[in-house]
Amino acid sequence: MASATTMQALNYIGPYKVRVEEVEKPKIEHPDDIIVKVTTAAICGSDLHMYEGRTAAEPGITFGHENMGIVEELGEGVTLLKKGDRVVMPFNVADGRCRNCEEGKTAFCTGVNPGFAGGAYGYVAMGPYRGGQAQYIRIPYADFNALKLPPGKEHESDFILLADVFPTGWHGVEISGFKSGESIAVFGAGPVGLMAAYSAVLRGGSNIYVVDRVPERLKAAEKIGCIPIDFTKGDAVDQIIAHNMGMVDRSVDAVGYQAVNPNGSSEKPNIVLENMIRVTRPCGGLGIAGLYVPSDPGASDAASANGMISLSFGKLFEKGLSIGTGQCNVKAYNRYLRDMIIAGKAKPSFVISHEIGLADAEDAYDKFDKRENGWTKVIIHPNGGV
Ligand SMILES: NC(=O)c1ccc[n+]([C@@H]2O[C@H](COP(=O)([O-])OP(=O)(O)OC[C@H]3O[C@@H](n4cnc5c(N)ncnc54)[C@H](O)[C@@H]3O)[C@@H](O)[C@H]2O)c1
Ligand SMILES: [Zn+2]
Repeated sequence: MASATTMQALNYIGPYKVRVEEVEKPKIEHPDDIIVKVTTAAICGSDLHMYEGRTAAEPGITFGHENMGIVEELGEGVTLLKKGDRVVMPFNVADGRCRNCEEGKTAFCTGVNPGFAGGAYGYVAMGPYRGGQAQYIRIPYADFNALKLPPGKEHESDFILLADVFPTGWHGVEISGFKSGESIAVFGAGPVGLMAAYSAVLRGGSNIYVVDRVPERLKAAEKIGCIPIDFTKGDAVDQIIAHNMGMVDRSVDAVGYQAVNPNGSSEKPNIVLENMIRVTRPCGGLGIAGLYVPSDPGASDAASANGMISLSFGKLFEKGLSIGTGQCNVKAYNRYLRDMIIAGKAKPSFVISHEIGLADAEDAYDKFDKRENGWTKVIIHPNGGV
C-alpha cells in the first residue's frame, strides 16, 4: 500500500511482463520541478515496443508518457502554475531554452537527455524521467512543459489525448505537407492512425483512407467519415487507387517498424513505407509518425536489427516525394487542440475503449498488446475513478 513516502507504479519487469509495485514517491529535485498527482495516464502503442522486449528497455522502468493530473507541489522557481492546477504534459520532456526548443522542435530538445536530442517520461533511451502510470510524477521545467486545463473533471478523456496521440496524429498529417481539400491515406488505425485520420477530417480532407486489419479499428475510422481499407482483403494500395481513381496526395505512416505483412503472420518493417511510396502521387508527401528505432533486438534480419530498413529510394526520387518524420513536437499543437476541445470542435475521446485502475493495468497491457478486437486505447486512473 502507498504510504507518505511511497506510491503505486506500473513497472517493466521483462518481455510481456509488467507489475504494479510500491516505489518511492517523486520529490522536487530542482526549483523548476512540480509534482503532479496523476488523475489519468494512457497506455500507448509506443509502450508496447518496450513491453514486447523490442527495445533496449531495462527492467524497472515505470512506463507512462501520456499524463495529466493536478499540481500537488511546486519548486520555488515555478511561476506560472499553482497548487491545484489541472495540467496535461506533452510526452516530450523539454527545457524550453535550447536551440531546438527555441525553434519549436521540443521533441529534439538537447538539454534534457545528455548525448541525445529528445527526452520523454517512462521511455527507454529518453532520459531519467519516470513515467506517469503511477500515482505521482515529477515534471521538470514545469512552466514550459505543463499545459493548463480548465478546472474540474470535464473532458478528462479528451484532454489526456493531448499528451501524445492527438498531436501526433495531427503532426503526421502536418509533416505530410497536407492541405485542405487533398486526399490522404493513413496506414494504421491504432490510436495514432485514428487521430491522424480525425485531424485530416478536421482539416478538410477530401478522400481520407484508413488502412488496417482490425475490424473494430476500421469501424471507428468509418464512423468519423473515413474510407476503411482492410489490407487482408487485397493489396491496400490497389484498393485505394481503385477507389480514389488515382493516387492520393498525401500518406501517413501510423504503424512503424513492427508493421506486419498482409496475412499478419510476420513483420515486414518496410511494408508501410513501400506502400506509401506507391500510393502517393508524384510531388506528394509522406508523413512518417510511426516509430523506427536504431536498434531492434527482435528484428527478423541483421539490417533491421540495426535500424537499416530498405526502401525503394529510386521510386521515391523519381516521384519527387517529400518526407517528414520524427517524434511529434507536442507543444507545437497541444494548446490549439485543447482549445478545439473546449470549443466543442474536436472530441478525440472516441478512440478510448477502456478506463481502468492501476490494478487492472497488467491485464490491459496483455489485451492491448494482442490488438484484441475492442481494445483500441486504454486510459488508467492511478488514484481512482474520475
Ligand atoms: N512520432 C511520434 O511522436 C509517435 C508518438 C506516439 C506513437 N508513435 C508511434 O506510432 C505508431 C502507432 O501507434 P499506435 O498507438 O496507434 O499503435 P498501435 O500498435 O495501436 O497501432 C498500429 C496499427 O497498425 C496496424 N498495422 C500493422 N501492420 C500494418 C500494415 N502493414 N498496414 C496497415 N496497418 C498495419 C495494426 O493492426 C495496428 O492497429 C507506433 O509505432 C508508435 O510507436 C509515434
Ligand atoms: Zn504515446
